[in-house]
Amino acid sequence: MRNTFYVTTPIYYVNDVPHIGHAYTTIAADVLARYKRLQGKQVFFLTGTDEHGKKVEQAAQEAGEAPLHFANRVMQRFKSLWTKLNISNSDFIRTSEERHTVAVQKFFRMLAEQGDIYLGEYEDWYCVPCESFWTDTQLVDGRCPNADCRRPVEKLREESYFFRMSRYQKQLLRHLEENPDFVQPASRYNEIVSFVREGLRDLSISRTSFSWGIPVPDNPKHVIYVWFDALLNYISAIDYYSGGERFQSFWPADVHIIGKDIVRFHAVYWPTFLMSAGLPLPKQIFAHGWWTIEGKKMSKTLGNVIDPYQLVDEYGVDPVRYFLMREVPFGLDGDFSRQAIIGRINSDLANDLGNLFNRVIAMVQKYFQGIAPRAETYEAIDGALKDKAVAVCKTFDESMNQLAFNRALAAVWELIGLTNKYVDETAPWSLAKEPGEKKRLATVMVTMLEALRLVSALLSPFMPRSCETMWQAMGSEKPLAQQKLADVAEWAAITPGTRINKIPPLFPRIDTGRAS
Ligand code: ME8
Repeated sequence: MRNTFYVTTPIYYVNDVPHIGHAYTTIAADVLARYKRLQGKQVFFLTGTDEHGKKVEQAAQEAGEAPLHFANRVMQRFKSLWTKLNISNSDFIRTSEERHTVAVQKFFRMLAEQGDIYLGEYEDWYCVPCESFWTDTQLVDGRCPNADCRRPVEKLREESYFFRMSRYQKQLLRHLEENPDFVQPASRYNEIVSFVREGLRDLSISRTSFSWGIPVPDNPKHVIYVWFDALLNYISAIDYYSGGERFQSFWPADVHIIGKDIVRFHAVYWPTFLMSAGLPLPKQIFAHGWWTIEGKKMSKTLGNVIDPYQLVDEYGVDPVRYFLMREVPFGLDGDFSRQAIIGRINSDLANDLGNLFNRVIAMVQKYFQGIAPRAETYEAIDGALKDKAVAVCKTFDESMNQLAFNRALAAVWELIGLTNKYVDETAPWSLAKEPGEKKRLATVMVTMLEALRLVSALLSPFMPRSCETMWQAMGSEKPLAQQKLADVAEWAAITPGTRINKIPPLFPRIDTGRAS
């Protein structure tokens, strides 16, 4: 069985600086990548920037810079954000790179050799922000039909190369019907199936009206359409051009994580390109929902765009990662508000998890001088916590494999809740007063530590730094990031005699100025 896993994010346009929406997709992909690594898989995690096209060319013009110069600057904002958010990507592809250009041109030639590319003339409505063409009937009130856009369109007429997408309609429909998981969630799958059922038109894949792009091989008057160019990043970054080892090991991708705005490009265009090239299709396209801010669409005009840099400075990287993954079921739309993030931090992180951790560590210090004792006999209440832990691991695993991140987290919080209850019910402070209860006290300590070890391992893909700190405080020699879940998720793995260290509070409460 293949032990590799390939996950991607969209490559983001460099016409604008990153915001919370970009951070969301990349964090989700990072959580998945880290989880798969913890499972022992060899993971390739790709992100990058989409630097060609009219939109970027226009933004560069407005900034009075050459497109590449402009792209270099904005690209850096993305790269540094990923460092700040502790993103563990394996590579960062820029579509302006040579390795990408050669791959796109090779691919273009290949499709042409298949007889799937021809020269024609295009006349249709073009939406620059979406970089897409629309027909008369598709327009809504004369504007871009994309519900998240609805901006004015312009009429474009030009000589253009076309890709015979219509040829692949039946094959794509069959693939969709045979693989209902190909597009997730189900609502997006249904949308794509009806779109494809209506028939596919050939696709214009070159432009002559501007020059910021990859030239069409043998006809440099044309540049390749930005979406044709961009989608190929998923293979150009893994050495498609040379058919190298990366390509052999990692293609087809396990999942392309994207936002719901770009499903059609990924679930219709991309598979048909690959079919024409005779390459296997990605296993899944997962389209998550859309974030609004305090109930409103995020927009520069409204001035409500959330800057992820600022968010991290304010709340810390792990709380931000946690909040975004916990607040909204992956696949549905969500709303961001300061109240919601503060609520999550104070209740889930500071109260439930942070307090539990500090209480347990403090008790091990107080009753056993910071040395993990040996547990000899267990009672029903200890067994119940262990059973819960086993059940949680199962739900966690199933949820993670379905990218149901919030469900995975909710399961861990059930374990945290039960552990808090366990502390209250076993009342170690009372046991400590009874000299005859030393053995019972030891078992209770070990059981609590076990629960915490498991919690820190399971949460580590979401909050890598905090979990590593918890893990180390519990005396583990090897960093969590180098462990396999199968080894660390084993109950009763704390070696008696292990030193348990105190650490400063991991998730300080945020003072809301209100008495609570
Ligand atoms: O579309 N809520 O790039 P892009 C949630 N270059 N996610 C959001 C969001 C929001 N409000 N706003 C943006 C492109 N996103 C192309 C992709 S891929 C071959 C080429 C996220 O910079 C979401 O993942 O416009 C969305 O799909 C992506 O940013 C769009 O990024």
